[in-house]
Amino acid sequence: MFIFTQKVNTMDFIKITKNKEPNVALIELSRPKDLNALNLQLMGELKDALRELDADDSVRVIVLTGNEKAFAAGADIKQMADKSAIDMLKIDQFSTWDQIRKTKKPLIAAVSGFALGGGCELAMTCDMIIASETAKFGQPEIKIGVMPGAGGTQRLTKALGKAKAMELVLTGRFISAEEAHNYGLVNKVVPVEMYLYEALNLAKEIGNMSPVATQLAKEAVNRSFETHLDEGLYFERKNFYLAFASEDQKEGMKAFIEKRKPDYRGK
Ligand code: CAA
Repeated sequence: MFIFTQKVNTMDFIKITKNKEPNVALIELSRPKDLNALNLQLMGELKDALRELDADDSVRVIVLTGNEKAFAAGADIKQMADKSAIDMLKIDQFSTWDQIRKTKKPLIAAVSGFALGGGCELAMTCDMIIASETAKFGQPEIKIGVMPGAGGTQRLTKALGKAKAMELVLTGRFISAEEAHNYGLVNKVVPVEMYLYEALNLAKEIGNMSPVATQLAKEAVNRSFETHLDEGLYFERKNFYLAFASEDQKEGMKAFIEKRKPDYRGK
């Protein structure tokens, strides 16, 4: 059967292409100037795109990617820098993340370059990760006076184990694609020119299976840790908001924007 590749959307920060492979849709994050920093509009568009594709019978598997330099360098620091804890609570960005997490069809992240903070968390929210050799994973929030807020403390710990997760979360260090693969965070590491092809290929293979069985199987695998995840995410979220009550958060994010070293006072 011959299938046309269709570009289908007009969103600002997301590009959707259907039938990249039979039954496969591709979503590209597209804010390249800001290394695909995840602002509220982008995340809203991503949520809407996933909801539409989830309801579309011509799509069985979804691949999510960025560009060669960045999958996503985290939540948008410029958008959060002057927010209070109550502002953050009211904005309630994580309800969008909750809906993304509930996508029923398999979601494969094709990661090259930076997958940091919310970017790493978004990749981990996907069901599988194919990485290019240049990919870098990390939770550097500690360097800007906050902590992971979109599942990092929970999912990274489950994937890497406590010691390594603690190291990454408390130092903000990055790990390479190869190291992430050794820890089981990533399914496969391939040369940079192959990562998208490899992810689409995996999606095509899964797209040949029964969509009903695929959905049920995904749900069951996720169930193996979700009971505890809900509690963990709730706990993490409260602490993330609390960090916005600190002067250190203001200082850390301001210093990033002004391209200088932060001066933390522990307040
Ligand atoms: N938010 C907003 N803007 C960002 C950004 C982010 N997370 N990451 C990068 N950018 C912007 C930079 O400000 C810069 O914009 P200008 O050209 O207007 O100055 C542009 O993208 C390019 O970035 P750099 O010049 O810094 O590029 P680099 O190659 O020198 O460094 C980097 C790349 C190491 C990824 C560096 O950009 C960086 O450290 N980014 C921030 C990473 C981070 O702290 N992420 C966590 C965010 S908080 C979070 O995600 C909370 C959560 O859990 C939900």
